[in-house]
Amino acid sequence: MTAIIELNNVSVQFHQKGRLITAVNEANLHIEKGDIYGVIGYSGAGKSTLVRTINLLQKPTAGQIVVNGEVIFDSENPVKFTGLKLREFRQKVGMIFQHFNLLSEKTVFANVSFALQHTQITDEKGKKRYLTKNEKADKVNHLLELVDLAELSDKYPAQLSGGQKQRVAIARALANDPEILISDEGTSALDPKTTNQILDLLKDLHDRLGLTIVLITHEMAVVKEIANKVAVMQNGDIIEQNSLIDIFAKPQQTLTKQFIETTSSVNRFIAGLSKTDILQNISADEELIHLDFGSGTVEEPIISLINKNFDVTTSIFYGNVELLQGSSLGSLIITLKGADEEREKVKKYLAGTSIEFEVLSASNEGGK
Ligand SMILES: Nc1ncnc2c1ncn2[C@@H]1O[C@H](COP(=O)(O)OP(=O)(O)OP(=O)(O)O)[C@@H](O)[C@H]1O
Ligand SMILES: [Mg+2]
Repeated sequence: MTAIIELNNVSVQFHQKGRLITAVNEANLHIEKGDIYGVIGYSGAGKSTLVRTINLLQKPTAGQIVVNGEVIFDSENPVKFTGLKLREFRQKVGMIFQHFNLLSEKTVFANVSFALQHTQITDEKGKKRYLTKNEKADKVNHLLELVDLAELSDKYPAQLSGGQKQRVAIARALANDPEILISDEGTSALDPKTTNQILDLLKDLHDRLGLTIVLITHEMAVVKEIANKVAVMQNGDIIEQNSLIDIFAKPQQTLTKQFIETTSSVNRFIAGLSKTDILQNISADEELIHLDFGSGTVEEPIISLINKNFDVTTSIFYGNVELLQGSSLGSLIITLKGADEEREKVKKYLAGTSIEFEVLSASNEGGK
């Protein structure tokens, strides 16, 4: 598949008070049509700067940017991408922000209509012209229906909730039928319930309009909810990128693991466990084992197989299955009770499956 957005070795540097700040350091990002690409990182990691290069709101210091097959920036072979061409291009990349950026003195209708003021269409004779008042009104009404705000058309931003304001911003961002929508912390100012409603709306728009979405966030829960791919940023570097499932199933970097821990309860559970005396008080013929099921392995009847084939008893201590992009990932913590050699056989057996496991405790440390 060809990428709809390609950032090749993109760097962005700022000079500030005699200091050189590398906000983005040789980033490579290939986003395919229809992706919901999450970019996650802490404050100052360079997320906004990176993503603002996609529509040249931020000019890179070096690198190459290709959008929809067109080279819009190339530090090696400079291209002229300015004026009307740049303006028209930017209309095709919608953007929403944390604080909505609505015009407070304009109604909901006028806020959306505002995005159409420079919009030109080509008529049947091949001539470009601006939209008529009626065409604009039809378009705005359609957009407001799309985001479920038709009834609030005459309200002003101050009369709306945060979620409603973001819906207005989404309608405005979609006014010029963009193929790409960028959300820079679009849900960060919203409560959890409203966040989920906005994420549902974005997912729905993605499905219905075939949008490609780039979603900046510092919350892994947001990424987990709708993204199919993820890039993790730290100090200007993209330190890890992968499909959502692989990021969760086999994170490589410490920071990625930290972000995952914020949403995955098994790690919190294990951390909590170490603060209790459960592990110390486990009996001599028992072990506590953490099993990690990758996608496709959750359905395996592993517990009943262990019970059937080995002379041990198992009990489930903790269990959690997550649904990511339609695949399930899961964790189980079980206690395994039986003679040393039988428990060893079970572990040998587990090592031969695609299930990953670790022993959290063995009271008879050192074995026999
Ligand atoms: N216009 C600018 N001039 C100077 N430095 C800048 C500018 N824009 C960003 N920076 C610096 O670049 C770095 C990355 O900033 P950026 O806003 O991209 O981070 P971010 O990941 O979006 O953070 P946040 O989560 O707080 O929005 C920071 O050190 C920031 O101070
Ligand atoms: Mg930012």
